[in-house]
Amino acid sequence: MGNKPYKITLLGTGLIGTFYTMSLHGQRKADRVHTVYSRSGERAQKFAEAWDIPHWQRDMAQAIQSPDTDVVVIGLPNHLHLEAVRLAAQAGKAILCTKPLGRNAQEALEMLKIVEEAGVFHGYLEDLAYPSKTLKALASIKNGALGKVLWTRSREAHPGPHSDWFWDPQYSGGGAIIDMGCHCIEIGRNYIGKDVRPVEVMCWADTLVKPIEAEDNAIGLVKYANGAVGQFEVSWTYRGGMDLRDEVAGTEGTVRVDHFLRTGFEMFTSTGEKGYVAEKAESETGWLFPVGDEAHALGYPQMFEDMFNAMDKGVAPMETFYDGYIVNAIMDACYKSAKTKKWEPVELVVWRGKEGAERQEQYKEYDQDHYLIKEELLPDGRKKLILKEKAGGKLVQHVTE
Ligand SMILES: NC(=O)c1ccc[n+]([C@@H]2O[C@H](COP(=O)([O-])OP(=O)(O)OC[C@H]3O[C@@H](n4cnc5c(N)ncnc54)[C@H](O)[C@@H]3O)[C@@H](O)[C@H]2O)c1
Repeated sequence: MGNKPYKITLLGTGLIGTFYTMSLHGQRKADRVHTVYSRSGERAQKFAEAWDIPHWQRDMAQAIQSPDTDVVVIGLPNHLHLEAVRLAAQAGKAILCTKPLGRNAQEALEMLKIVEEAGVFHGYLEDLAYPSKTLKALASIKNGALGKVLWTRSREAHPGPHSDWFWDPQYSGGGAIIDMGCHCIEIGRNYIGKDVRPVEVMCWADTLVKPIEAEDNAIGLVKYANGAVGQFEVSWTYRGGMDLRDEVAGTEGTVRVDHFLRTGFEMFTSTGEKGYVAEKAESETGWLFPVGDEAHALGYPQMFEDMFNAMDKGVAPMETFYDGYIVNAIMDACYKSAKTKKWEPVELVVWRGKEGAERQEQYKEYDQDHYLIKEELLPDGRKKLILKEKAGGKLVQHVTE
């Protein structure tokens, strides 16, 4: 017996509405957008025609309340997420909301409460937790291949977003941190462990290039209860395309992933591509870095697969509104820290992970009397062994020829 195909109301016909529909309708998928909403009737109609969507709407509430759909996918600007969630929960629909969940933790918490009180399915559409490379790396970490994860680095940088509202914190909630830091923070949480409490943050943010009331560049450190640190770097002024990279360092191994700009696909053209190369690509001649299947590289189809499989089984997906709330709370602390220039605590009204300090050092034993600090083969062929005496704590070095 096959799975039940879902009928979707899609809110928003912008960049993310396009990527979502491309992913939902791709590869002869059974789940389809059935009703699409845009505030412009002309745009809604064009979008519906382009993607073979039977109904379009200019009224958001009516689109949500369509008796034919069971899922509402929210792809609207950030300031409209809360209202859309409220309407969709009232209609008793499953709700999938794009990132960031809210403009701040207060909004995100309200959304979490709304969906939980209504008892509806909720998924946080954090696609960058789902690229195949990330899923594989996460599985390896779960199997212990990296030991204990100590540090993660996630970077998202490009020449800036494609619509006016992103640049106005009134609508977006902030700048590069709220737009892209949300991805990087959640990637870090996934690698470090979502049940490990984020404790405090240190963040630098500045407006270096654009005449806006928000940050166009930022770097942050998120410290977790087990001692691990999730580092993020975001920029709206980075030239040359969209740079999406993650690194993970554990006690037993490391991971490096390049999702977009340098994936092994390089092309040179003297005449030009004559059109779209890849999201946020800045040139179409010379050396280009196209992406084979963008939606897949960014994790969208895998993300929807997880969402719909979870709906079928009646379980929570990998990313829920709770996760969206935690990310918003971390970002709130980042904005505070960028102002105070101090470590700021992550204030969590709701926390469902491990409690208390779980930081435990586990040293590697060399023998009964020593811990192993380091072993290395030198260029001249000698071998060095650096040990620490358990009794007394003295460091000793043995060199073998
Ligand atoms: N990787 C990702 O997950 C990803 C990528 C891009 C955007 N997003 C998120 O998706 C959402 C939309 O971003 P986008 O890139 O599609 O933006 P966009 O500007 O390309 O599209 C926004 C859509 O909302 C409509 N809209 C704008 N203002 C409106 C208003 N006041 N009332 C009703 N409709 C309005 C626009 O007409 C358009 O259809 C944002 O929350 C953004 O953060 C997520």
